[in-house]
Amino acid sequence: MKKIGIALMGLGTVGGGTYRILTANKDYIRKVQGVDLEIMHILERDMTKVEALGVDPAIVSTDVANIVNNKDIKIVAEFFGGIEPARSFLIAVLKAGKSVVTANKELVAKHWSDLEAAAKEGGAGLYFEASCMGGVPVIRTLTEGMQGNHVQSIMGIFNGTTNYILTKMADEGLEYADVLKEAQRLGYAEANPSADVDGFDSMYKLSILSSLCFHKRVPIDKIYREGISKISKQDIEFGKQFGFTLKLLAIGKLVDGKIEARVHPAFVPDEHPLAGVKGSFNACFIVGDNVGDIMLYGRGAGDLPTGSAIVSDIVYCAKQTEHRYCPFDNSAAGVRDEDFAANFESEYYVRMTVADKSGVLAKIAGVFAKYGVSINSLQQTAEDGKASLLFMIHKTGENNLNQAIAEINSLNEVVAVDAVIRVM
Ligand code: NDP
Ligand code: HSE
Repeated sequence: MKKIGIALMGLGTVGGGTYRILTANKDYIRKVQGVDLEIMHILERDMTKVEALGVDPAIVSTDVANIVNNKDIKIVAEFFGGIEPARSFLIAVLKAGKSVVTANKELVAKHWSDLEAAAKEGGAGLYFEASCMGGVPVIRTLTEGMQGNHVQSIMGIFNGTTNYILTKMADEGLEYADVLKEAQRLGYAEANPSADVDGFDSMYKLSILSSLCFHKRVPIDKIYREGISKISKQDIEFGKQFGFTLKLLAIGKLVDGKIEARVHPAFVPDEHPLAGVKGSFNACFIVGDNVGDIMLYGRGAGDLPTGSAIVSDIVYCAKQTEHRYCPFDNSAAGVRDEDFAANFESEYYVRMTVADKSGVLAKIAGVFAKYGVSINSLQQTAEDGKASLLFMIHKTGENNLNQAIAEINSLNEVVAVDAVIRVM
């Protein structure tokens, strides 16, 4: 059996998990998959990680030339994270004819076409199953399991950290800031948690996945993005009263032939399967025109779950006789403004604090009416001269709703529009 030399870039969470799976399952992979994978070099600067995993320090360095110049290394798996030096290193190894497997969604979302151009130049493959939903095989499902379909939509919970935070807030009645601190202490959220809580991580994943769904490049600047940092436990509690669970959703869909792509918090009806996805788990719904609904569920992060997807890509790559590339133009030149929806429709939950005076409600209702925004229901509580108004709004265009909210916010009698949350 032919040996296939592998290199790993990074031995942190995902790199460490991958190393452990590759070493523990070496014989099993040989026997069942018919490929003999040998780790020949590792790039890592933190020798405590090398030591902790019992890696031979002789195969560890920080110099990518040790991979580029080793003709026996055929596949390079990257887990540095971030853009540089990952991008330059991967371009160098791809041009040298070594295939790349990566978990780096930010890099793929931003530089997919550069990486693919380098892969084509070197006759190498580019695989990134682990970049979206960690251990859940969503990319293989889209590329290898949906050929008989035109995909209509993808909707999911793609970020484990935010789902953990929202679950804790809902189940334990905690405030956002307190749960975030706990998530950081447990190592779920980064010291700088912006990539997760501001929706960037979900946006990168949606960019990759919706491009694969609709066979058109969906760049990150075509994705509406809103995170969870303004969510209060009060709104989660109100949502419960209406039978809703709050989730950070990533949604890509075709509407009248145009792509609509957005990441934002949304109230999901309690009976919807996504409402039951708790803690750090991920899930997604894909709708194909022939198959109908498909739902995938599993661990979207963590060393072994993500390592599982990396090893799957390594084995898949090792078995290819010819690498295949994106069936659409994934460069900036392939992006046409007219392919994307500029506005989208949703139902809304709107909570505001106003002066408890005669005529205020009529004024607010008048502004909604001016912009064609129709109220479904209203709940009011008043105390100490102030009233809290909670509107459920019928399906309306985002632009109309935004104009109405801006005008309502400018009314003297309105203390604040406290929350505007989409309802699925
Ligand atoms: P970690 O920070 O745990 O690991 C990265 C490792 O690479 C660190 O040990 C880091 O060293 C090392 N490293 C970075 N740059 C260099 C360099 N230039 N030379 C040598 N070593 C370097 O990150 P994760 O494993 O969590 O994430 C890796 C990638 O996987 C990211 O792209 C992430 O988005 C993606 N991902 C992560 C998941 C997860 O569950 N963590 C899930 C799915 C995807 P040092 O610590 O010194 O910086
Ligand atoms: N930070 C990501 C999450 C890691 O919380 O889901 C997996 O991509």
